[in-house]
Amino acid sequence: MALEIYKEAFAIAAAAAFRESYPDIHREVGDAEVFQRQFVYAALEKPKDPRMGRFALPVFKFAKLLKESPPAIVGRVAPVIDRHLRAMTPPSPVHCTGTGAFLNAGIDSASLLKQALGAILDSAVAYGASSIGSGKTVLVEYSSPNIAKPFGVGHLRSTVIGNSLRRIFKKLGYNVVGINYPGDWGTQFGKMIVAYRLWSTPETLRGDVVANLLELYVRFHTEAEKHPELEDQARAAFKSLESAEPEAVRLWEEFKQISHAEFDRIYGILGVEFDLVYGESFLNDKMEAVISRLEKDGLTSMSRGALVVELDDPNLPPALLKKQDGATLYLTRDLAGAFWRWAEYRFDLSLYVVGSSQADHFRQMLKVLELLEQKEQLPDMERLSSRIKHVDFGWIKFGDKSMSTRRGNIIILEDVLDRAVALVKQRIMEKNPDLAEIDKTASIIGVGAVIFTQLSARRQRDVNFVWEDVLNFDGETGPYLQYTHARLCSLERNYNKPVGSDIDFSLLDHEEEIRVVEALLEFPAIVADAAAQYEPYYVSSYLLRLAAAFNKVYQRKDEAGRIDKIISDNAELSAARMALVKAVRTVLKEGLYLLGLGAPEEM
Ligand code: ARG
Repeated sequence: MALEIYKEAFAIAAAAAFRESYPDIHREVGDAEVFQRQFVYAALEKPKDPRMGRFALPVFKFAKLLKESPPAIVGRVAPVIDRHLRAMTPPSPVHCTGTGAFLNAGIDSASLLKQALGAILDSAVAYGASSIGSGKTVLVEYSSPNIAKPFGVGHLRSTVIGNSLRRIFKKLGYNVVGINYPGDWGTQFGKMIVAYRLWSTPETLRGDVVANLLELYVRFHTEAEKHPELEDQARAAFKSLESAEPEAVRLWEEFKQISHAEFDRIYGILGVEFDLVYGESFLNDKMEAVISRLEKDGLTSMSRGALVVELDDPNLPPALLKKQDGATLYLTRDLAGAFWRWAEYRFDLSLYVVGSSQADHFRQMLKVLELLEQKEQLPDMERLSSRIKHVDFGWIKFGDKSMSTRRGNIIILEDVLDRAVALVKQRIMEKNPDLAEIDKTASIIGVGAVIFTQLSARRQRDVNFVWEDVLNFDGETGPYLQYTHARLCSLERNYNKPVGSDIDFSLLDHEEEIRVVEALLEFPAIVADAAAQYEPYYVSSYLLRLAAAFNKVYQRKDEAGRIDKIISDNAELSAARMALVKAVRTVLKEGLYLLGLGAPEEM
């Protein structure tokens, strides 16, 4: 139910028509299937002048092949294509006409509109859903902040991208498991324990507890410069945690509880959800099995006292499994985690939404898995390395240094969210002080604005966070999309009638309206592409295009230069236009949901 379908029909008809008109063509271009796909379908273009058709096939590259001029080819083939389109059951709404060197495909707009809008209005939020994922399991790991550290903007992008991917995959029928894998183990907890024992006061557990813990941690490092023996104490404290001494474990549990309370609050504000949360420590007793497996496979060796896997890749350092002091490492844990996830879920795909700065880590992990799979001659079915993907992303560059003062140089996410919400609220108070739920709306918009920044560029690109841009209601922002959605809701309120089913769609005959319908038709393919490329940006950029296309309808002027209102005295025309409004509103809202943004009905 998308433009794709019409393109496909055209490609089939065109391939048949070329075969009929030039019986020798396959000697030149080979396989019929390939011809249809590569020479026709893939070559379809969108004409600059929409009156030339919805899409077109340029025939320049056939000229040499067929030893005929492009216009001659067009003249010969166009009517044959059209005949083939007509002969389909049911007859295709696509028509073919030739102009110059182009085979133009037009779509009978009444049937296009009827099909497109009918489908959206019937399926409502389910529009764009599919079952391509049914029976398949996708794991998406995202967020994964560190215990006893504040939730900084550093973990925002992973959280937002992962949350969106979880929703996108669900929409496509996958069984999705959203995983949060917080860092809750490591020698830093030895330091935390020592610092807490030495300097905590009853005040430590009051107010902004995570900030207080960070202060203790920072203090440990300053003091340890003067008193190196603190480092020994920290090592001893971590050892006691490892050997499960109750007092050490109690403190560690307390740190975890404090951090999780903060994280959960932030996930609540962001509207982010997980299906499974487990920390690094969960894998403590699962690493030895991986190490012995790699040893048994003969893949390990000793390097300067450490147990490593050499990776026969000049660009990657050996994978460190165990250090001299026996402490196991991040990588060993991730290997153990990969096997655990596999045993638990038999996933088809396992995504790790983690910044590009950890690219080498994931390359190492995948390389170790590959070596193991080769060595053990595992069948394809059992090969994790082809199912695991590092979904990497670039940095967030924060222009505003004023946000980074409160706790060292970490920019606290909650400060950013609070500020966004406050600025939005101020704006609403100025522009629309009578709005019913100001606080709630300000929160949806402010938080949405921050979320949108993380998805407004391809994920591998860095993001510049500039306040003026983030909250610009007319820019390429979340608030702009939300505002467009609210405007559509307001039209529906004004219309105040249900959108009927006996609509004369042929009344939507303005170029601007057709463009909107075309954009609506793209949605299912966009969602599928976003999943295939792990790229929510496809959805965010699509929604901006859709909103821009609709705003052209909204602002369209008639011949007399007056705004051609959506709702007018012409009841039939208004009904048709309101069907369009409802369809756009549905897709906008659903698209915003897929990105993790709310869509207020009024703002
Ligand atoms: N906690 C880690 C960090 O903040 C991210 C964990 C990423 N996930 C993983 N499976 N290694 O850097």
